Amino acid sequence: MKKICLIGGSGVLGKYFKKKLSINNELHVADIGLKDSKKSKNLNTYFLDITNEKKVQDFFYKNRKKPFDILINNSAFTTEMAAKSKSSKDIFSTEIFDKTIQVNLRGVFLCCKNFIKYHHKKNIDQRVINISTMYALHSPHHDIYKNENFFSSISYSSSKAGIVGLTKWLATKYATENTNFNTISPAGVLNNQKRTFIKNYSELIPKKKMAKPEQIFSAISFLISKESDYVVGQNIYVDGGFTSW
Ligand SMILES: NC(=O)c1ccc[n+]([C@@H]2O[C@H](COP(=O)([O-])OP(=O)(O)OC[C@H]3O[C@@H](n4cnc5c(N)ncnc54)[C@H](O)[C@@H]3O)[C@@H](O)[C@H]2O)c1
Repeated sequence: MKKICLIGGSGVLGKYFKKKLSINNELHVADIGLKDSKKSKNLNTYFLDITNEKKVQDFFYKNRKKPFDILINNSAFTTEMAAKSKSSKDIFSTEIFDKTIQVNLRGVFLCCKNFIKYHHKKNIDQRVINISTMYALHSPHHDIYKNENFFSSISYSSSKAGIVGLTKWLATKYATENTNFNTISPAGVLNNQKRTFIKNYSELIPKKKMAKPEQIFSAISFLISKESDYVVGQNIYVDGGFTSW
């Protein structure tokens, strides 16, 4: 039974990851959208805002007695969230840029930092998985967002590209100390989008389909398996081929 920490477990992918990871593991899920509660020996949830450095430190510190075997950084301030803010129409909004970096990059940095400080043990096999996006190192096609009330922001791409660099840095630093860091970069996941959007998006994907949560989870299953212990610092695209064009 692994002790797993999932940061970001109440969103579209997080809910699915939570369900799968709580089977036969001791799962601790922290998210700004959850409350503190002990549900069972398999599942504990926590309210945590990863922009709050002190609270992130407290969370990892309080759980330190039995270290986490696995940390998955899945939280994000997404472009859909940015679309609800006052300055959502301003594609160069500094407010949205700052907020996105705070959650998506600084938040992941804080979680990795406190994982290393309180949970990293040289004698156990540990894994850290950071969730990025195919839009980190490959630009969105801006045209498909023309008739939508959201778009894929410059802030989102910038913050998620930072995750790829951060993960590679940590991967090489801790490779000989038994903690493997890797990134997963998914394509867009089906989630009640408008039919026209699904069609336009799918046209850009070699598989001609948007992703499903189970397809993204397949990469998590691999990266937490014993068999992947020589996979270090990789950025695994689960994107139906988008980045292969
Ligand atoms: N869904 C997609 O199409 C897609 C595609 C590519 C990458 N991703 C990435 O996958 C991950 C999960 O995406 P999703 O679609 O489930 O997103 P989502 O918006 O449904 O969930 C994001 C989660 O992050 C949490 N969160 C936001 N701010 C937080 C904070 N300050 N502190 C703690 N938690 C916070 C939210 O409460 C939510 O549970 C994200 O990192 C996202 O960037 C998603």
